[in-house]
Order: sequence, then C-alpha cells, then structure tokens
Amino acid sequence: MKAEIYYFSSTGNTLLLARDGAERLKAQLIPLSSLQSLHFISSQADIIGFYFPVYHATFNEPGIPYFIRDIIKSFRGLRDKYVFAVCAHNGMPAFTLDNLDRLLKEKGAFLAGGMDVKMGIPYGTKEKTAHLLADQPLTFDREAEAVQRESLINQYRARAERSGFYERIHRRETCRLWKRTALSRLLLGGILKVQRKPALDRYRELAHFGGDDFRELTRFADRSFTLSGDCNGCGVCERICPVHNIEISRDVPHWQHRCENCFACFQWCPVEAIGGRVTEYEKRFHQPALTLKDILNDDSV
Ligand SMILES: Cc1cc2nc3c(=O)[nH]c(=O)nc-3n(C[C@H](O)[C@H](O)[C@H](O)COP(=O)(O)O)c2cc1C
Ligand code: SF4
Ligand code: SF4
Repeated sequence: MKAEIYYFSSTGNTLLLARDGAERLKAQLIPLSSLQSLHFISSQADIIGFYFPVYHATFNEPGIPYFIRDIIKSFRGLRDKYVFAVCAHNGMPAFTLDNLDRLLKEKGAFLAGGMDVKMGIPYGTKEKTAHLLADQPLTFDREAEAVQRESLINQYRARAERSGFYERIHRRETCRLWKRTALSRLLLGGILKVQRKPALDRYRELAHFGGDDFRELTRFADRSFTLSGDCNGCGVCERICPVHNIEISRDVPHWQHRCENCFACFQWCPVEAIGGRVTEYEKRFHQPALTLKDILNDDSV
C-alpha cells in the first residue's frame, strides 16, 4: 500500500505532525509548495494525506490555506484514493475539515480520515483585551511556550494512539475524528459570523483598500509588512515563501501582493528584519526542534 503525505508548515507544527504521520504510514513526504506551478497533479499512491495549518477559519473562511485549496483542486483521480487530512490549529479549527470534505466531494472523492490538532498557543483573552483596550504590549514567555508545545505534541500522539488513527488509515477504514454535534455547529456558525466583521475591517486597513473578499484582502495585507535597516539581502524570505510572493531586488525583499499571511518570512528572517502592523498578533517563535533547513526541506542550508 503506497502512501504519500503532502504538507505545508510555516512555524513547524504541521511539519512535526507530517513527519510523525509519514513514519507511521511509511509514507513519502512531499512539500505542497513544490506543486504550485502544476495544473494537473496525479499520484500513484493508494493513500493520500494532506497536512496543513488552519488559516482564518475563525473569520468564517474555509480554514484551508488558499494556495493549498488551489493545489487540491488540481489533483486528478482522487476518487480512487483513500484521502485523509491532519490540520494544526490554535484552538479554533471551526469547519476546516468539513470544508475540505466538501471540496473533495466536488471532485468525486471524500475525506475518509481526519484529525484537527491543537498545536499553537494563542495569546490569552486577557492579554488580547488589554492590548486592544489599553494598548498593553503583547508579551509571551519563550520557555513556557516551548514546554506547552511539547505537551501539545504529546497529547496529539496519545490521541492518535488511543483512536488507532494511523492503523485505521493503513487499513483504509473511515476515521473521521473531527465531527461536531448539530448544536455546537449552530453556535459556532454564529460566533464565526460575528468575528468576521472586525477581521474584515482590520484586513481592509492592512491591505489599504475596501471590499469583502477576504482572500483578496489577505493577498494585499503584505502592504503592511515593514523592513528594518538590519536586512542584509540574504534571500531567506524569498526562498521560504510558499507562494513566491517575495522578490529580492537591489538586495531587499519586495512583496508581490499574493500573500497567504503565513508569516514564514517574518518568522524565519535570520536577523528579524521583517515586522509591521500585519504581524502585530504574531509571536516570533517556531518549533524549537526544527531549523531553517527543515522548513526549507533543503540540506544545503
Ligand atoms: C494567517 C493565520 C491564520 C490563522 N487562523 C487560525 C484559525 O482560524 N484558527 C486557529 O485555530 N488557528 C489559526 N491560526 C494558527 C495556526 O493554525 C497554528 O498556529 C498552526 O499550528 C500553525 O502551524 P505551522 O506551525 O505548521 O505553521 C492561524 C495562523 C495564521 C498564521
Ligand atoms: S530574510 Fe531577512 S535579512 Fe534576509 S533578505 Fe529577507 S528580510 Fe532581508
Ligand atoms: S510573503 Fe511572507 S507571509 Fe506572505 S505568503 Fe510569503 S512567507 Fe507567507
């Protein structure tokens, strides 16, 4: 039984999950960003896994990063495969895996297996409220964060073990671990609608234009990145961007307005030269066990 895992990860959470899945299923690991220029993608594998971080599900968006949705749409022959997904999130995956299931159904396939995994720790509500109402700086404790992340990955491993997640996938049995009750779906739907409006307002400011198209606003939100004088033109940001949104010219990065807001450029710039309003709720922190070489999937770094 041949298995392939397609993944994207900005701060390393999903990469850890994808490596774990690949080990358990003896699957080949393939970065999703390497498939972008392809209009048709076909695979010889019997089992296909998609691993990705949840983006903007909180604001009533599909939750699947936009470029990954486009890539999945380009897959051919998925109806004959066992397809599963694992998404990393910060506490609110909302309907991400249902949305992926719907997308696959449009292609004649369906999401046979899936798990959402809490892997990052958001700023606490108290901290965010103090930031918004009293302009308090958002701070966090690196060591505590590293301990928390370790504990979250252990929780994921225990859950995968308990549910027999990978064994069931290996046997091609249905294993949908993300389902919700009708009541919780109803409540969640209401919360997401309320949260969407302030998010749209914020993104209109970041993108410097109006409109209701969240994808378009996030693309142009890169207008709110700033660059400090520490930039040395090393090109790491250009290489790490999954959607080739950064071009280095005259030794400085230029954002091309097709941003996914993954913040990999901000996270991995070796001299922390990237900042700006778009990054205000981000923490410069990645999985401690991983290096730039891991994220770039490049041994020559
Ligand atoms: C642009 C953006 C949007 C996000 N939206 C959500 C969200 O809607 N719900 C959620 O629970 N986490 C959200 N997150 C958090 C990520 O899903 C989470 O930190 C994930 O573990 C990151 O995975 P990675 O380390 O593989 O990049 C968002 C993160 C980013 C950068
Ligand atoms: S990674 Fe940082 S230092 Fe290197 S080119 Fe990009 S912004 Fe400049
Ligand atoms: S420009 Fe930065 S934030 Fe935008 S998609 Fe590329 S790496 Fe991600």
